[in-house]
Formats: sequence, structure tokens, C-alpha cells
Amino acid sequence: MPQEKSFIDILDYCLKHKNISPPVFNKTGMQIREEVAREEPDNRVIEKIITCDQALTSEVLRTANSVFFKGLSKITTIRNAIVRLGMKEIANIALMASQKSNFTSKNKIIHRIMHTLWKHSVVCAAGSEWIALNCGMKNRSQEAFTAGLLHDMGKLYILIVTEALIRAGNIKQIPSMTILHEALDSLHTHYGYELLMKWNLPDAYAHIARDHHLDEYDEDDILLTIVRLANLACNQQGIGIKPPADIILAATPEADNLGLSEIQMAELEIKLEDAISLV
Ligand SMILES: [Fe+2]
Ligand SMILES: [Fe+2]
Repeated sequence: MPQEKSFIDILDYCLKHKNISPPVFNKTGMQIREEVAREEPDNRVIEKIITCDQALTSEVLRTANSVFFKGLSKITTIRNAIVRLGMKEIANIALMASQKSNFTSKNKIIHRIMHTLWKHSVVCAAGSEWIALNCGMKNRSQEAFTAGLLHDMGKLYILIVTEALIRAGNIKQIPSMTILHEALDSLHTHYGYELLMKWNLPDAYAHIARDHHLDEYDEDDILLTIVRLANLACNQQGIGIKPPADIILAATPEADNLGLSEIQMAELEIKLEDAISLV
């Protein structure tokens, strides 16, 4: 590794040369998504995929019983969860549950940042789904959820590399939160794109990971516009690793492009608050 380099340069070098293993994509969530997308999806197949994995089963049940779904009685089995919440919702929950284990670290500071990033990703996913459902894009709500969940995976990758560098003694500690934020901001879109391409996910998700902060973006890309707006809504409320940002959602080009009103933006804010209970 080159000597006398800045923290960002060291990270960039490691990410570029891939000498630290990237996070692994757990395919279970996507398998369920594929079953749900069939013309005649089979409840039993979905139930079987979930119940084969004990950790996934308990995480799906925990999420299905969260305040977000506001059930009257407790859901105790996966079969019951599928009947009560529907297959599409269960597919979303399973996708979340299958990715969650990536967001843990033995380093306390990094673990805390990962948890906050996970919260941002989940709330952004729920927000993206809500926006799709409310801007006439109901048929794309599942994709919107997935895209929202994965848009900042580049940040997870950077945090994993940071932890590995500390563990190996290449760096003593995170230089400062300001520098870490700078590194996350400047590197996460590029390496998020590379990671999602490596995971062989549909290109649309990788493009969103790459373009969700661009000043000028493809306004015809509805999915990208949806995730950008959900991301801005999270940032406005401080749901993420940075403090709340001063953003008037209804005045953003994204809200305008999707034809969403001020009242709908206020509804979105409430939806995001509810979605925190999913974490
Ligand atoms: Fe981002
Ligand atoms: Fe984000």
C-alpha cells in the first residue's frame, strides 16, 4: 500500500484494488421476490424459503409485528404473516431481513454508524415504496423498495473496508467523523455502483446507487427520481448519519417531476416516522 496517503486515498486504493472482501449479497430475499413476481405465486414456496432459515424467520416475524404494520394481534408464524400482510409485503420484509446481517461490526463506532445507515436504508426503502404507490407508479413499488434499500450500499462497503484497515493495523482509528463523512460522500456512489454490478442485480439498481446525488440526472428515470426524493426526505428529517438538512420537499425538482403535492409530502414525512419502527 502507498505510504503517506490520506485516509480517503487509502480507502480508495483498497476499494480499487479489492484487497478487502466486499459485503456479500444474500440472495434469499431476491428468491422470494422472484416467486412473488410469478403469474401464480405459491404461498408455500415463500413459506418454505423463509422457514428454512431460522434467523430469517425470526427477523421476518419481528418486523411483521412492528408498529409499522399496526396489527391487532401478534403474528406468530410465517404462514400467518403471509396471509395477514400479503406476499408483496412479506417479500419486502424478507429482503430487508436477508440484508440486515451485513450491517454489523465488532468495532463499536463503526457498528453504530452501520446501524444508522441501516435505518436510513430501510426508511428510504419504505419511503420509495410509498412514493411509487402515490405517484401513479404502483406497478413499480416493489422495485422502488429494493432500490431504496440498496442505494447507499457503497457506504456499507466503505465502512467494512475501514473496519478491516483498523483491524489490520493499517490505520489506528477513524481520523475524525468529518473525514469519514467526506470519504463516504466522495466514494460511495462509485463503489456502490461497482458493488451492485458485482452482485449481478438489475442495472437499474446500480445506476441509482451511482446517480442518486448527481446535480443533473436523468429525469425520465422514474425509479431514480423516486429514490432521490425518498433520500432527500430522510435527509430532511435527519434519518441517516448526518443532522437534519434544510430541504423543502415540495419545492424539489424530484417532487415536481413526480407531480407530488405539499400535502403528499407531509404524508410522506409521517410515513417515514412510522418506518423507523421497522428497524
Ligand atoms: Fe447516498
Ligand atoms: Fe442515502
